[in-house]
Formats: sequence, structure tokens, C-alpha cells
Amino acid sequence: MSAQANAEIRDPKALQAFAGKVSGSVTAGMNVALTFVGEQLGLYKGLAAIGPATSQQLADKTQLSERWVREWLYQQVCIGQITFDEAATEFSMSPEAKAVLADPEHPAYLGGMIHSVVAMYDTLEHLPECFRTGLGQSFDDKGEACACGIERMSRKFQQLHLVPDLLPSTEGAVAKLTEGALVADVGCGAGVAMIEMAKAYPNSQFIGYDISMNALGRARNNVREAGVKNVQLHNPIDQPLPEDGSFDLITTFDVVHDSTHPQVLIEAIKASLKPNGTWLCADIQGKSSFAENLKENPMATIAYSFSVMVCMSSGLSVPGGAGLGTLGFPESKAREMTAAAGFSRFRRIPFEGDIFNAFYEIRL
Ligand SMILES: C[S@@+](CC[C@H](N)C(=O)[O-])C[C@H]1O[C@@H](n2cnc3c(N)ncnc32)[C@H](O)[C@@H]1O
Repeated sequence: MSAQANAEIRDPKALQAFAGKVSGSVTAGMNVALTFVGEQLGLYKGLAAIGPATSQQLADKTQLSERWVREWLYQQVCIGQITFDEAATEFSMSPEAKAVLADPEHPAYLGGMIHSVVAMYDTLEHLPECFRTGLGQSFDDKGEACACGIERMSRKFQQLHLVPDLLPSTEGAVAKLTEGALVADVGCGAGVAMIEMAKAYPNSQFIGYDISMNALGRARNNVREAGVKNVQLHNPIDQPLPEDGSFDLITTFDVVHDSTHPQVLIEAIKASLKPNGTWLCADIQGKSSFAENLKENPMATIAYSFSVMVCMSSGLSVPGGAGLGTLGFPESKAREMTAAAGFSRFRRIPFEGDIFNAFYEIRL
């Protein structure tokens, strides 16, 4: 095999370049783990607070062992996340590094995404079996860390943009919410979006639905901590969406592409909406085909990576699951599937503030 492969290699430089590319990915994989460690141990926050600092000063600040902190700092400098002043043997963080790695309140903060990726490592031992049987893993199969990672990944966007930007872009929703509306957030996850809406619109009632016990557990805690009284949580396995056209507004944030039976879900949403109700649907923006994603979608690599580990896996977690995948519900597909369910109005909301999602206002 290697003799044949060697015979096929005409250009040693191309081999070197390809091996270099793969080792760059290997380094990046290890860096995700070590960035997570730094985030969890407060090393970035600590350095952001006291830097420039020596490894001993950072170890003292974080109450960690200096030798471990120093080796971690060396790795962080090599990868370019932390800066080193050789003369002073001090480490520091650029303003950009502080925003992305040390400040959970900053819109550019990536701690949540890093947490999500680390949570996926647990699925590695199950993936070979998934490839053999075709069956994926539900969100709960992936454990609580997965629900936590997703919550951290979507929290900032939902807190910053849902109430101020997205709801006002839908026709009439804000007036109804102000007066008192009945709202469902389907696939509510940890409930962050619903809590934001519940705080902003105290006259309205919110029901969060999620099939993940881990997500519902996190949502319960978050609702309690937020002190909002106008939120209920349901598991649709026991309490499905009512088919009585009672909801003024239904929201889904990154749910349809993950669901095992998306067409059934879309039909259930339609049946539970009032005739003049609105479905605000956020889903991953992508192109209509793999070829287009490959050429035109800068997020294609990360999206297909998430897909194998999480999204397609979730969509295939029961026999007969659709397994749309992370990029499997682009606008063209959303238009097609919602029209098939009987929705007649579909509008893409012209909001460009999210790198992953597109937002649709869908009505009967
Ligand atoms: C990617 S997470 C998004 C969670 C949340 N909306 C957010 O933005 O953080 C997708 C969620 O959809 C839930 N889900 C998938 N299919 C569902 C269904 N048919 N009904 C209700 N929840 C569903 C999953 O359990 C998971 O919590």
C-alpha cells in the first residue's frame, strides 16, 4: 500500500504541504482542549486582569501550580493567543484576545463554542457504531455538557439581538407581545431566548418545549434564577404542541435541522399557530447543495464538522430519522418544506448580525 502510494506521489513538496496542513489541524484540535482548560481555570480572565504578568504572578492569581501554568502559557504563546515579552519574561493578552477569550459579555467571545466542541469529544467512542448502524445520538445521549455548550454558544446572541432586533423585524409581533400573547419556543434548549422574551413582555405567556431532559433541566434552573413567572416548560413527548391554533407566536432557534422528523414538526407548528400567528424560525444559513457550500460558504467546514458530531447525529437518532444535517435546512429547503405543510407566506428577515443563522418569518 505505502509503495503504491509512494509511487503515486510525484511532488514531494506537495506531500510536505499536505502533511503540514493536516498537522495544523491536529495542533488546532489540541488547542481547543487547552483553550477550554484555560477558560475553565480562569487563566484568560486572570491574565486579562493582571497582565503583563509572569507565570508565577498568574499562578498566584489563579491559585494554580506555576509549572503547569508556565507550560500552558508557552503553548498559548506558540499558537498566538497570548503574547510574550522576552526581556521582561511577562505574558499578556491583546485587546482582541481579551474579547474573544476572557470576556463572556463580549459579542466576539468564543468560550461557548469551544465548550461545545469539547463536549463533542465524548461522542467519539460512539461514532464508529453510528457509522456502522446508521443510527445517531440524541442530544441527551451526548450528556449534559452538550446542552451546556449549546446554551453558552447561543446565549449571547439571544440576549443581544432577539428582543431589540429580531422581534421588531416581524410584522405585528411586538404589539401582540406587549398586549399579551401566547408564545411557544419549540426546541427551547436552556430557555435563554424565552427568558429574554418573558422579561421584555410580562403580559405574555411563554411555553418552552424540548425533548432533551438535560436541556429542560438547565431551562428550569435558568427560569428559576431569572425569576420570571410567565414561563412554563414542557416535554413534547408527554405534552405535545396543541393542535388548536392557539399560539400567537412560535419561535425555533436551530431546531428544525436537528429534529428527527422535521416535516412532522413543521406541520405541528402550523396546527398550533393562530391563523394570523407568526413562526419566527432561525436556522443555519447555507446553500442549496454541497457543491455551492463548498465554493461559497465560508462556514462549511465548521458546519459539516458539527453535523457529523451533533446535528445530523441528532436527526438520525431514531430509525427513519431524516438526518438533515447542519446545512440541511437552507432557505430553499425551508421554503419547500413549509409550503408543503400549508404555510403560504415566507420572508427572510434582512438581519445579518449572525454568522451562522438566517431568520425567517413564516405565516399561514
Ligand atoms: C441546537 S439545540 C438549540 C437549543 C436552543 N433553541 C438554543 O438556541 O440554544 C436544538 C434543540 O432542539 C431540541 N429538539 C430537537 N427536536 C425537537 C423536537 N421535535 N421538539 C422539541 N425539541 C426538539 C433538542 O433537544 C435541542 O435542545
